[in-house]
Amino acid sequence: MKVLVLNGPNLGRLGLREPDIYGSATHADLASTCVETGKELGIDVEVRQTDHEGEMVGWLHEAADAGWPVVLNAAAWTHYSIAVRDAAAQLKAPLIELHISNVHKREQFRHHSVLSDVATAVIAGLGVDGYPLALRWMAANAK
Ligand code: DQA
Repeated sequence: MKVLVLNGPNLGRLGLREPDIYGSATHADLASTCVETGKELGIDVEVRQTDHEGEMVGWLHEAADAGWPVVLNAAAWTHYSIAVRDAAAQLKAPLIELHISNVHKREQFRHHSVLSDVATAVIAGLGVDGYPLALRWMAANAK
């Protein structure tokens, strides 16, 4: 089984970006943790990051057409992108919405997600450790 891990805008800056909120692991560290976890679980994990909304929409279409489960950290798009939501709504396999920080403890504008009601589950606030947890759930439950 293949699982896509899709990360949105500014997540390529992990490690440099507000480390008190997002931690010190870089996006490359995060990607290798995900790939290693996938090997351990016997699933094929591919990690992608983009700052371009249309590229994210295209990747979600690709996952919808292929029937792949998706772990999605849509970053700021979470809070306002109906285009990302409409693409995510087309997925047939499980979708886990993920946030490194606990968005509910932060500014009011981060409390609302346009994705949560089309997601299977939401993980927020576990730092980058949320990614391997999401992959473990996918390995056990997604087909
Ligand atoms: C984030 C939370 C979002 O509010 C923010 O815009 C991000 C990252 C997180 O992983 O905690 O860029 O999705």
